[in-house]
Amino acid sequence: MAVVRGFLGFTAACRDFCVLVVLVLVVQPHRANGLGRALTAPSKDVAKPPVAGICAASVIVHGYKCQEFNVTTKDGYILSLQRIPEGRVVQNGGNKRQPVLLQHGVLMDGMSWLLNSPEHNLPMILADNGFDVWISNTRGTRFSRQHTSQLDSSTTDFWNWSWDELASFDMPAVIDFVCGQTGQKINYVGHSQGTLIALVALSEGKLVNKMKSVALLSPVAYLNNMNSALGRVAAKAFVGEIGTMYRGYAEFNPKKVETGNFLKSLCAYPGVDCYDMLSGFTGKNCCLNSSSFDLFLANEAQSTSNKNMVHFSQTFRDGTLAKYAYVRPSYNVMHYGQVTSPIYNLSNIPHDLPLFLSYGGQDALSDVQDVKLLLGNLKVHDVDKLSVQFIKEYAHLDFIMGLNAKDKVYNQVVAFFKRQNS
Ligand SMILES: *[C@@H]1O[C@H](CO)[C@@H](O)[C@H](O)[C@H]1NC(C)=O
Ligand SMILES: *[C@@H]1O[C@H](CO)[C@@H](O)[C@H](O)[C@H]1NC(C)=O
Ligand SMILES: *[C@@H]1O[C@H](CO)[C@@H](O)[C@H](O)[C@H]1NC(C)=O
Ligand SMILES: *[C@@H]1O[C@H](CO)[C@@H](O)[C@H](O)[C@H]1NC(C)=O
Repeated sequence: MAVVRGFLGFTAACRDFCVLVVLVLVVQPHRANGLGRALTAPSKDVAKPPVAGICAASVIVHGYKCQEFNVTTKDGYILSLQRIPEGRVVQNGGNKRQPVLLQHGVLMDGMSWLLNSPEHNLPMILADNGFDVWISNTRGTRFSRQHTSQLDSSTTDFWNWSWDELASFDMPAVIDFVCGQTGQKINYVGHSQGTLIALVALSEGKLVNKMKSVALLSPVAYLNNMNSALGRVAAKAFVGEIGTMYRGYAEFNPKKVETGNFLKSLCAYPGVDCYDMLSGFTGKNCCLNSSSFDLFLANEAQSTSNKNMVHFSQTFRDGTLAKYAYVRPSYNVMHYGQVTSPIYNLSNIPHDLPLFLSYGGQDALSDVQDVKLLLGNLKVHDVDKLSVQFIKEYAHLDFIMGLNAKDKVYNQVVAFFKRQNS
């Protein structure tokens, strides 16, 4: 840790960009040959989205109904949203279906919930249990790259946002839309960044009247304990080179050829073991099916903004959960009315909101120590409104793709939602 701090102290460029290196590696496969394949994916595949949307590609093919929607945020981004209104076997009669909204993590999109077979993925398990399932896609991911003002995704203006805006614009837009369509409060499932934006939005009193319950898988709020993995990678990465590559707040596209070439050169460097880096970052995922993992590589590694990656690195650097910090104090004053960026106080999340939190013992991004910090903030939460689950062998991706996630996590999520809605 001392080494890392010292390193950060000397290398200003690393401060902002080293987390970014590590985050790229999360989406790299764990075999050297796989790495080469994923990174050299033909750029034409990468540039344009698959013809079929998420419904057509991954839901209807399995015999489920699925609808596509576009939702516009207050700042003009047009987000893609999918709905699986019912299960394969429709149970007649009974109550109105309760809506559940699934929010994916950073560098992923809504497809990340749908990589396993229908019996194993969370959206379909929820639909088959009688829920009305909605899947959101944050701005910048392949199906959410339009803007009302014709702001083009090739411009830097399109990418001028971080998870602050995901919490204050994307999430409210989607939740208002689903509430409007269903006339009901929302049950929410977030993974990774999807947990972060819910936590910070709720801590600011946003959406609290529209949420019925919240499930947090692989929760991310604090990143203080990413140090060890980060230190290893940052020390090996040529931060200067990365700094040059990503200067400016434009798109962060992990599939870009230059990113791939750069990473390949890193992996080829003596002593750098890419398998190790993946494990060091996501943790060693115990339970992935190799064909699902291939599908993951073919589909994920979605774009986000450089500013978002910098915001994550600030969270790591500062050990606090705060709004995006501008370098110049005067900019902070302009944006926030104070010289430092305001802290999000998670103790302000309504204490009676039902929360389910599931975290893994092998998860290096949602590190056990960091989850404990988060739970410290939730100490004031009503005891009977907080369920916490710990899965010793799980790492970051097991929560969305684990072959046994149904038994380990999803059945518990379903039971949690049923309790809130009975
Ligand atoms: C959503 O917007 C995209 C891009 O403008 C368009 O191609 C698509 O047809 C729209 N989908 C729906 C369901 O309106
Ligand atoms: C980015 O957006 C902020 C408002 O959130 C604005 O103050 C700033 O000038 C924008 N930056 C650029 C480079 O457009
Ligand atoms: C892995 O996924 C493939 C494709 O969905 C499936 O055919 C196979 O049965 C899965 N393997 C296991 C062990 O479930
Ligand atoms: C956060 O809010 C709680 C009350 O909800 C308060 O007791 C605590 O002092 C606040 N923490 C900070 C750091 O402001």
